[in-house]
Parts: sequence; structure tokens; C-alpha cells
Amino acid sequence: ILALSVAFALMIGCSKSSDTTVTPDGTSSATTVSGTYNDLWIPPTITGTTFNLTLAKTTKQMRTGSVTNTYSYNSTGFWGPTLIMNKGDFVKMNVTNNLPEATTTHWHGFHIPAIMDGGPHQMIDAGTTWTPSFEIRNNAGTYWYHPHLHEKTKEQLTYGTGGLIIIKDPVESALALPRTYGEDDIPLILTSRSYGTSNAFDLSARAYGDYQLTNGTSNAQISLPKQFVRLRILNAEIERGYNLGFSDNRTFYVITNDGGLLDAPVPVTRVKMMVGERVEILVNLGADAVGSSLDLKAYNSGQAFGFPGGESNSSGDFGSLLNNKDFPVLHINVKAATASAITALPAKLTTNTYWTNTDVTNSRTITITGGQGATAFSFDNNLYGDTKINQTVKLNAVEKWTITNNNIFGHSFHIHDIQFKIISRSSGTVGTHESGWKDTVYVPVGESVSVIAKFDDFASSTNAFMYHCHFSNHEDGGMMGQFLVTQ
Ligand code: C2O
Ligand code: CU
Repeated sequence: ILALSVAFALMIGCSKSSDTTVTPDGTSSATTVSGTYNDLWIPPTITGTTFNLTLAKTTKQMRTGSVTNTYSYNSTGFWGPTLIMNKGDFVKMNVTNNLPEATTTHWHGFHIPAIMDGGPHQMIDAGTTWTPSFEIRNNAGTYWYHPHLHEKTKEQLTYGTGGLIIIKDPVESALALPRTYGEDDIPLILTSRSYGTSNAFDLSARAYGDYQLTNGTSNAQISLPKQFVRLRILNAEIERGYNLGFSDNRTFYVITNDGGLLDAPVPVTRVKMMVGERVEILVNLGADAVGSSLDLKAYNSGQAFGFPGGESNSSGDFGSLLNNKDFPVLHINVKAATASAITALPAKLTTNTYWTNTDVTNSRTITITGGQGATAFSFDNNLYGDTKINQTVKLNAVEKWTITNNNIFGHSFHIHDIQFKIISRSSGTVGTHESGWKDTVYVPVGESVSVIAKFDDFASSTNAFMYHCHFSNHEDGGMMGQFLVTQ
């Protein structure tokens, strides 16, 4: 495989597409990029209160040679526009599906009525438009939208269906933080793909791509100003976890979790991100020389359970060139500071009031089951059923959910409707980098994770919310349940 990919990298290293140099892979050695970098694609933005999204078949020059068939919103090619919304706004979404098949569009992390949520039941048939509208009640932070049609989620995601959402609010706006999109506030959507004949995406059962993509760009590079820079990172993989850090092991600062600002920036040298999770980080480039460069890298990040210091990663590479390797996700070239440079780290970000055990009015346990032999992963030995309600929660209940994983694989557990606080991990303490509001949590093998959330505002006796593994292959396989919030 190594010899082949070296030959391949050499082969494509000197080719050019019409306007951009495309050196797709960079995995001839897993640790260094051979060939040149490609400029990071920054998704265009849509602002306001009406968001028009049209999903259609598209193509994108993902690598040298044939274009790759993709699906994308608003013909962006791979991942759609970034939607910028304000907390408190009442927004109207017009989602037109021009694919020859049904889809759904889910607003991941949003606290909205179940009928607007875009889960498996809010089907958008081919050729139709779905028009949910809702108030933005979430805190400022980084969210995302993606398809959620049962048994089609992995395939539609693989094609590139999805995009980022940025919510703004007065608390965040009052802080001295970088917020010039594309300049010192950079969206980074991390995933990977494998390719078949004519550069078609590999849609087989393989869950780990061979070629890493940042915003759909392989071997991505960006020039960033010599100052504090904010990176909004989403793990949009099928199954891979990322353990991120910088090539010189510098300290950087986590400022948000899935559901918004932490109380204060948390210094780290690595941050682990499982599928569906978002963090915003601040990195100080103020001491870097103009013209110098560094990499944001994924360290030993191959598998769901490949985290260093966590579970064993000795179980193989699942056939991916990237698994159990260190590889760059963004090459950063340092340029001169901007006029409005942020040069200091805020000491304090916000004041969150988190739920604690004393607030809890009901507790439940969800056990990860299945996955042995040919059986699909499931919760409590139940596979997803369209009309099966697995949990019923009373409106305004403050619930503690304990997710227990004595199974064979780690999973990324996501609950719709609410943001929760992780209050315990059976393996030890909850990391300060995951101490904020979360909607997705990694549950490693052998661990029980307890989270607390209030299920307020939206009740319905008929429209359910989902909870599921965010590995879309597991979700499609039935590792998903439904809960009703009732009066
Ligand atoms: Cu990101 Cu149920 O989804
Ligand atoms: Cu899973």
C-alpha cells in the first residue's frame, strides 16, 4: 500500500486542474504531506432570517482526474453554506430537495419543536420544499445541519450533504474574540473519504476514509494573521475520532462546547473530538514569525477507540490509511496581523448555570447493546423502529441519562432537543474541555457516562425526538431511539 500510494502521490504531484492545484492525498507518508497544499475552501455564508437551501446532485474536483459526484446545498460542491443566525430571531427555512430521492434536514443541537427538527420523520420528498420556522433559542456557538433520513444518513452525508451553523448572541458579541469569518474566525469541517473508480466516493461499508478533508479540501492550507485566531471545528466523520493539537505542541484554548461558551477558556495541548462534536478554540499566533508555518494535526486519531491514554488502539486499522496515524488537517502559514487583531485572551467568557444531581427529577439508563457477530449496534436491545417510542419524558423534567457501554466499541451519543451537562464518567473525571453544554458525548468501551438536561418548552404527544449514535453507519443500522416529551 505504501509503495502504491507513493507512486500515486508522485503521479498527481505535478498535475494541475483548471484554476486550482489539486494534490488530493498526502498520505504517501501518514505524517507528512507530499506535494503541495491546497487553499482551504471557506463555505460562503447566508445571513438574515430567511434561509433558502436547495439540495441537488453536484460535482467537485476533489482530487486530480475525474470530478467526484457529490450532493450539496446551493451547489457548493461538498458541504453547503454556513448559516449565520442570531439568538432570539424567528427564522424561516426553505429547504428544497432537488435530489431524485427523499432526504431530511436536521438542525443539530437546536432547541426547537420536534416537528421542525428535521429528524427521520420530517421527510422532504424529491422535488418538494420543506418550510419549518422557529425561534433561535440556543446560545452563541457552532452548530450544523445534515441529513437524517433513516438508513440513508451515511450515504447522503458521504456525498457532502450538510453544513455549519453559527449562532450569535449578545453575550458572545460583547467579548473581545476573533469573529471575522474566513479571516480570524475559521470554520473547519473535518472528515475523510475513500475513492473508487473515476474518483467516485466509496459508499461501501467502510467507515474510515483514506484521505482527510478539511471543508472538503485535501492537504488544506490557510494563511492566518499573527494574532489570536479562532477555529470552529466540527467532527463530521462517519466514525473517526480526532485528537487534535498543533505540530509544536503549543497550548491553545477551548472556548466553546457543542452548546456555547464555557465559563472561561480552557488551556489544552490536545482536544479529542468524536463524531458530531464541535469546539471553538483560540490559538495565539502572535509570537510566530511572519512567513513561518505550523500544522493543526490529528494525533493517533484513527479509530473510535484509538485515543491515546484511553482505550487500546491495538485492534487494527480498519483498512484505512489514516487510522492510528498522525496527520495534518490544516497547514497554517503565518502572515501579518490585521488592523483589528485580538491580542489577549479573555479571562472570563460567560456564567453558565449547570444542572446538578440535586436538580434531577427523573433518571434513566440506556445500555449499548448488539454489535456482536452480524448483529447491529442497538440501545437496550432495541433497534430503531419508525413507530417505536423508546422513552417518554415529562415536559420540564430535569433528567439524568446514564449511558452504559460494556460493549465492544466506543460510540458518540447524541440527544436531540436539549443541551446537557456531563456530570460523571465512570472512568474518572470529566475533562474541563468538555465541561460546558453538550449535545453529543463520547462513550468509550467500559464506561458509563451520566448527563443531565432539562426537557423544557416543547411537548408533543405525537412528534418524537431522536437519540442515537452519531456514527452514521451505526445510526443507519438501528442504533437510534425515539423519545416523546409530553405534558
Ligand atoms: Cu447530528 Cu440526530 O443528529
Ligand atoms: Cu455507534
